Formats: sequence, structure tokens, C-alpha cells
Amino acid sequence: MQSPSPPRDGPAGPDPPPPESRRERPVGESAAAPALAADVPEIGRKGRRGPRHRLMRGEFELDLSALLADGDPAARWSRAFGADRPLRIEIGVGNSDFLVRLSEREPAFSYLGFEYSPKRAWKFLKRVKARGLTNIRLLRVDAAGALEALVAPGSVDSFFILFPDPWPKHRHAKHRLIQPATAALLARLLAPGGRLSLRSDDPRYAARMLEVLDGTPEFENLAGKGRFAAAPRHEIPTAYEVKYRLEGRAIHCLEYRKPGRSP
Ligand SMILES: C[S@@+](CC[C@H](N)C(=O)[O-])C[C@H]1O[C@@H](n2cnc3c(N)ncnc32)[C@H](O)[C@@H]1O
Repeated sequence: MQSPSPPRDGPAGPDPPPPESRRERPVGESAAAPALAADVPEIGRKGRRGPRHRLMRGEFELDLSALLADGDPAARWSRAFGADRPLRIEIGVGNSDFLVRLSEREPAFSYLGFEYSPKRAWKFLKRVKARGLTNIRLLRVDAAGALEALVAPGSVDSFFILFPDPWPKHRHAKHRLIQPATAALLARLLAPGGRLSLRSDDPRYAARMLEVLDGTPEFENLAGKGRFAAAPRHEIPTAYEVKYRLEGRAIHCLEYRKPGRSP
């Protein structure tokens, strides 16, 4: 749950509201589709831009405009990763090691993280570089706005959305990532047999995620409709999860699959 005066960064810190420009973006409960990537400025342009960051940007941080300019979207990810592997995406990597550890544990995939906080993105890039990983990249943009333009339908192996900002106030609920339109988009982008994994400590948001995703016809709830999963698909705790477990909070896990056989 978010506290009223969160620190601006760090695993223990819930997230501040996005800047005004992002708040105005139509990602609300309305049926409106997420904004196109072309409308989404690369967030954090004022973030660290020293020589080391420029180096990592070339190596591990992808450039949204360059990706969109790629005339051959089918080859976009094999070019960006330098290898043709199934794509796994985490939205909101935060200060967590989840994607880094999963990419080490299951290296046969390409791992793309989205994080719009410049500080968290920077820390993530530092960890990736320190571990010498080659199958992981970051996009410092709003995933809700960029995914549709960037990712081909039916092409994603897995999405991970771990402790998304719960936006507990009623008037802020429209900023939540999991909305009917986003759920439909994620289902469309997943490959047959693809997986969507979510976790939350917020009982109300978790219940809403269950309702929205159970109501998305393209998703099969692997725990059965109306039920949370007994355990997450990958038992790698995120930064927020470690904190919440120490506080004794219950963690709600959701595991979905897009029916069909993976190619
Ligand atoms: C509550 S934190 C959780 C971080 C991490 N997954 C964990 O469990 O420790 C949510 C993170 O998602 C990022 N985020 C939220 N919505 C996003 C979006 N649409 N695109 C990119 N990043 C997003 C926030 O900046 C924040 O770092």
C-alpha cells in the first residue's frame, strides 16, 4: 500500500504520482486503448547522462525512437538483443533484481524491462552491467503507452507485472496498470501458450486484477476462476516483496495463460 509521503526512490519507497503529463494520459478504466508510443515522450530525459550512462545506453538501454524507426518490426527484437530468442517482458522493474536473476537462471530468452523512473532505471542498468548479462535490455518509457506500437501481436512469451503501483485512492484508480484495455492488449501480444504473472500486496487491487483478468476471454486463470495462485511461477522475490514479507503482509499471486500451443 502506498503511504502518504513516500520517499522518492528505493525498494522501501512506494511511488510518487507521475508527472502531470503522464497523469493526463488516457490509461483509465474507460475502454480507451492505451496511447500510442508516438505520443509518449521518453521519460527521464533529465536523468543521468554522464559518459558511463551513455555507454550503458548503447549496451543495455534501448532507444524508443530507434526501435520504432526500425523498418522491419518482425526483426526488431533479434536486432536489439543481437539474438533471436523468445521475448519476456517485465513492466516496472523498480529496484528489483527479479528480471536480472531470471535472465541468469533461464538464459534461453530475451528479457526486456520497462521502468519510467530514471533513478531506478539507472540502478537497474548498473546491476545488468555488473553481472555481465547479454540477454537483458531496458526501456525507460511508459510501457502502457509503448507496448502496442513496439511489440507484434502473438509474439511475447511472458509478461511479469510485480507489485504494480496500487493507486489506492478512488480518484487515482484510473492510473492503475491493470485495466480492461491493458489486459486485452497483454492478451493480444502474448503468444499462444504465453504466460502473464502478477503479484500484489494490496488486497483491493489484487481482487480487481483478478476480476479484470478473469473477465478477459483470452486468459485462462491457472488457479481457476476467482482464485489466486498458491505460489508464483518463479520464486524470485522482488525488492518490494522482501519488504512486504518482512512486514508480514499477505502476497497475492496471479498466474494466467493464453490458451494454445506455443510454437
Ligand atoms: C511498486 S514498484 C515495484 C517495483 C518492482 N517490480 C518490485 O516489485 O520491487 C512499481 C514500479 O513500476 C514502475 N512503473 C509503473 N508503471 C509503469 C509503466 N507503465 N511503465 C514503466 N514503469 C512503470 C514504477 O516507476 C515503479 O518503479
